[in-house]
Amino acid sequence: MPHALAVDDDPNFLSALAELIEGQGFTTNTACTLHDARKQVSHRTPDVALVDLYLPDGSGIELLKDLELGASTEVVLMTGHADVESAVQALRLGASDYLTKPLDIGRLKSILANVASVQPAAQAAAPVTETQEVGRLGLLLGASPPMQALYEMLNRVAPTDASVFLIGESGTGKDLAAQTLHLLSRRSKAPFLPLNCGAISPTLIESELFGHERGSFTGAQRRHKGYFERAHMGTLFLDEITEMPIELQVKLLRVLETGQVVRIGGDQAVDVDVRVIAATNRDPHKAVQDGKMREDLLYRLQVFPVHMPPLRERGDDIQLLAEYFLGQLNERQGTSKVWTEDSLDRLRTHSWPGNVRELKNVVHRAFIMADNEVTPRCLPREVGGESGSVRSLSFQVGASIEEVERRLIMATLDAYGGNKRKTADILGVSLKTLYNRLNTYREE
Ligand SMILES: Nc1ncnc2c1ncn2[C@@H]1O[C@H](COP(=O)(O)OP(=O)(O)OP(=O)(O)O)[C@@H](O)[C@H]1O
Ligand SMILES: [Mg+2]
Repeated sequence: MPHALAVDDDPNFLSALAELIEGQGFTTNTACTLHDARKQVSHRTPDVALVDLYLPDGSGIELLKDLELGASTEVVLMTGHADVESAVQALRLGASDYLTKPLDIGRLKSILANVASVQPAAQAAAPVTETQEVGRLGLLLGASPPMQALYEMLNRVAPTDASVFLIGESGTGKDLAAQTLHLLSRRSKAPFLPLNCGAISPTLIESELFGHERGSFTGAQRRHKGYFERAHMGTLFLDEITEMPIELQVKLLRVLETGQVVRIGGDQAVDVDVRVIAATNRDPHKAVQDGKMREDLLYRLQVFPVHMPPLRERGDDIQLLAEYFLGQLNERQGTSKVWTEDSLDRLRTHSWPGNVRELKNVVHRAFIMADNEVTPRCLPREVGGESGSVRSLSFQVGASIEEVERRLIMATLDAYGGNKRKTADILGVSLKTLYNRLNTYREE
């Protein structure tokens, strides 16, 4: 079994993280300080270390520098959104990756899967069963005609090595579609690596994608393998492709055409066998007109364009998904809350500009606000609901503290228009605590 070390000064966060890592088939040790972390490393060298940047006795980067954590440990730095510059420094010093907080669980899992996949003793990924049944393909749910048409496209293209271009509004399921393509392909046991071209600084993308040689720029102390090399035999998901700097799009096109990458500062071409899936929530032709996307790259990706249907065109899927998401929450919380007909009507008539993501959030919020029946009072106004002015909550005697806390937090957040700092102040907790809670709710 591969071994992981998680280092963070927040014990709640740390135990949640450790649990998550263990769930991915790792043995896991934890440490709250640099000092503890060093002790743990001297006992057993981890295959992967997830290290918070700010520790009480120094920076997580110190741990990278000691490098007892030799080439055999993948070091992943965890930082707040504001610290991307430190993360850049960490990558230059040899960290394999970094995660911003709140953690993107999907990314964390794919990093861990990648580490596990190079472990000789690692278990093969769980076989995919029941990938297709009525109203479902892989990770995607929905039985409406536009979804059936989508499944047909995905089924056709999945087993091939063709690049796929997923085009659709935000929240329509492009991420899920990309993962589904990977699961249904012969590459499913190799890594699936997502890279969000819009979320990473333009100066970093090149080295992230293609890697760099030691000494290729000031501070590049170790050779760094890029996403292409790390996704070898697997799938690379380039999300928000139109946000990739235009000069890099030329390089990307060259890699797609030659199947070879050259690391920054290197002179050797390395063969890579990677299937590329790209995605955008813009109109790609318009992106070309606006000079955000190179036409030759578009044509190359356009070989197989897949349009994700917006939720407002998916008819009965709205109810199907609403029932599904509520069922999931019930299962996790051991409750049996149900939709009222009234509420379902309102869901059906809403236009869902945020698509499935919006629906999922609305269901989550409604679930928290509801006692047993999910009435229109639990729905936000934009969705035709009657809440948004909740000034008091009622609980049944015997409700768990956790449940009460959760409902109080969500209702307060709601009352202050989603302003987290105000919410934390009013509730008398630190902003960090609030983020931790919200993270937990999101994970659940
Ligand atoms: N067909 C679906 N079935 C089940 N869940 C879905 C479906 N489509 C989307 N979701 C859920 O909705 C949320 C948003 O989906 P996803 O991240 O894949 O959208 P996206 O198109 O990549 O959005 P963005 O353009 O903002 O990146 C996720 O939580 C996902 O699990
Ligand atoms: Mg996405």
